Amino acid sequence: MTRPEISANRLMARIKRLGEVGALSGGGVCRLALTDEDKQGRDLLVSWMQELGLKVSIDVIGNIWGTREAEQGGPPIMMGSHIDTVATGGLYDGAAGVLVGLEVIDALNAAGIKTVRPVAVAAFTNEEGARFAPDMMGSGVHQGALDLDMMLATVATDGDAVFGEELNRIGYAGPVPAASMTPAAYLELHVEQGPVLEQERIQIGAVTGVQGISWTEYVIEGQSNHAGTTPMSMRHDAGAVAAEIAVEARRIAVDFGPPQVSTVGVFEVSPGLVNVVPQFARITVDLRNTDDTLLIKAEQQLMARAKAAADAEGCTLKTRSLARFAPVAFDETLVAKVEAAAAARQLSVRRMPSGAGHDAQMFAPNCPSAMVFVPSEAGLSHNINEHTEEADLVAGANVLLDVILDLAGESK
Ligand code: GLV
Ligand code: MN
Ligand code: MN
Repeated sequence: MTRPEISANRLMARIKRLGEVGALSGGGVCRLALTDEDKQGRDLLVSWMQELGLKVSIDVIGNIWGTREAEQGGPPIMMGSHIDTVATGGLYDGAAGVLVGLEVIDALNAAGIKTVRPVAVAAFTNEEGARFAPDMMGSGVHQGALDLDMMLATVATDGDAVFGEELNRIGYAGPVPAASMTPAAYLELHVEQGPVLEQERIQIGAVTGVQGISWTEYVIEGQSNHAGTTPMSMRHDAGAVAAEIAVEARRIAVDFGPPQVSTVGVFEVSPGLVNVVPQFARITVDLRNTDDTLLIKAEQQLMARAKAAADAEGCTLKTRSLARFAPVAFDETLVAKVEAAAAARQLSVRRMPSGAGHDAQMFAPNCPSAMVFVPSEAGLSHNINEHTEEADLVAGANVLLDVILDLAGESK
């Protein structure tokens, strides 16, 4: 029997082709969830799955998976990730995992290998959460962690589009019910999106878990007034309150130290004029920590400071949780298999936690799950210049192939 071989040419051709969908003029891609570009990317993916002879399934939240059937039947060994991006995304975040998954299938097909268990490759809807919060929406519904109806009713952050209507509009509200299938195991390859592997010159990350994620929106209402005539003591400046919350979020991360991080990614003031005290402000804060106790402490400290700042300025404050996921640990046996597969191919490997959220964390409570990280150049991600070397991607694909074959078993 021929040994399956990852083809760098096939893999890179698909990465480049998908990268043309939603390509930005300065480089990078914008395939925000449920936009026309997301639909085009999905159509392309489905056509590739069909070419590879996979049975394509689409569920009620638009997750797509292609299954390579096996004699034994039963739940598949699943590989997956996402093809939606942030508005200023690169070619690798999410797409690498899905397309390496397709390449693993292609390699099995080309070598004529039959497996004992079915093998599937999936693309989950709206992993990014950039247009509709929370993130990991498709995998969350798929694994029963998020409520389908609530997710379908979500309103976009960039206007008044409703998730369920957009899903129908692009033609990807499928017939498969939510939470109807748990794979036998779940494995996700992803670019690291951080600097560790590159700095340490290590080729493979065996991911041990994902840190906790907390997203909150703060909406502050004050009173607009004349910038020149209103004494400082008489202002109800929504912008000043938002600024205090933003500074406090930063201070918390610095005071707590690593791995606590905080990000204010949205900062809007209105009316947004040079000589008008802001009437309204909206900001978002993203807090993350591997330790949930510390994450809760950070959330509470920031909320207390936000309330105090709003009270002191005579403004009203409304807050809304956009996402909250506890830290997740991956399956020890599977993490060890990733490590061993890398070592067997003479690849350098280290264990590491993930700073970014991933679809794999939705599977971890329900089935053995793990991830393979490959280096990100200069640690850049959520950036149009995101890049991973071809050789690193191929190395990760080989590790994924070996672990998948081990789990799915080769039919004699
Ligand atoms: C998903 O990309 C995240 O925000 O971690
Ligand atoms: Mn991702
Ligand atoms: Mn991302």
